[in-house]
Amino acid sequence: MKVAITGAGGQLGSQLVERFGPDAIALDLPEFDMTDRAAFDRLARLGPDVVINTAGHTAVDRAESEPELAYAVNVEGVAALVDVCRQLGAALVQISTDYIFGGDVGRTTPYRETDRPAPLGVYGQTKLEAERLVAACPRHLIVRTSGLFGPAAPRGRGNFVATMLRLAAGEEPIRVVDDQRSTPSYTPHVARAIEFLVRSGCDGIYHVVNRGASSWYELAAELFRLIGNPVELVPIGLDQYAAAARRPGYSVLDTSRYDALPGRWPLPDWHDALVEHIRREGLVIATEPTTTEPRP
Ligand SMILES: NC(=O)c1ccc[n+]([C@@H]2O[C@H](COP(=O)([O-])OP(=O)(O)OC[C@H]3O[C@@H](n4cnc5c(N)ncnc54)[C@H](OP(=O)(O)O)[C@@H]3O)[C@@H](O)[C@H]2O)c1
Repeated sequence: MKVAITGAGGQLGSQLVERFGPDAIALDLPEFDMTDRAAFDRLARLGPDVVINTAGHTAVDRAESEPELAYAVNVEGVAALVDVCRQLGAALVQISTDYIFGGDVGRTTPYRETDRPAPLGVYGQTKLEAERLVAACPRHLIVRTSGLFGPAAPRGRGNFVATMLRLAAGEEPIRVVDDQRSTPSYTPHVARAIEFLVRSGCDGIYHVVNRGASSWYELAAELFRLIGNPVELVPIGLDQYAAAARRPGYSVLDTSRYDALPGRWPLPDWHDALVEHIRREGLVIATEPTTTEPRP
């Protein structure tokens, strides 16, 4: 199976390249540019059986000030991938996001794959439009995930956990949003689940996140508790967080469709994922990890 992975130098893309090993064809900037038509001709010549699209304009705030570029990468680029996959009879796997939800303010129950999307910003709108294009591809799989963290990637935009560790080196208290709830998800775990879905030939939409839910403040607090760093954290509201894009107050994804698949790899709770990440980064666990309930 030849599996082309776009955005291969990004957070999730790099983990997918590792998972698919010799089957992976890694594609990223500058050679593979989602805004360059010639890139898609080269992709067609490679003749992949599966294309996994992790490439994207993922800077949520910047997308508000450069919507044309976000649209060119996240929508027009995906339209070109759909054309290539149709032509080759290849499966297209599109990585999407919890940010296609959020417009129904006051929501407190996890979103299912069938729930009506209502994005709040340009990034979410472009990702939703991409989903609609991909759904028209004869062989397609849409994987929605959220709050990615994991090993640093060559071109990765960084992630919340890495940012917290960097800020902790400073003197100032760290202000962290406490009224935005989603599921922090560990890229090696998400990549493993995606590999399962692809190799099992699954299609349609699947939500793939670690178990449980958290605010950014709770995640930061658990991180610093685990590594025994007594940094001062100040919980703030989204309204105090100066950002260009509106964000969902609640965007926890329901994973029961994935969980019902026979033979699937069960993603652990995000607390356990965080412990795994800390150990993998070579940091020392100073405090007992929170015990999480065994998965049914
Ligand atoms: N990060 C999250 O928390 C999160 C949550 C839910 C869903 N997702 C989705 O998951 C996917 C992977 O996210 P990620 O965090 O791994 O993203 P990432 O680290 O930002 O990686 C995205 C990759 O795409 C590349 N890229 C940007 N513009 C491109 C273009 N014009 N042509 C080709 N490649 C281009 C980036 O290169 P440069 O860095 O050089 O621009 C980078 O290598 C994305 O589709 C994102 O929408 C992410």
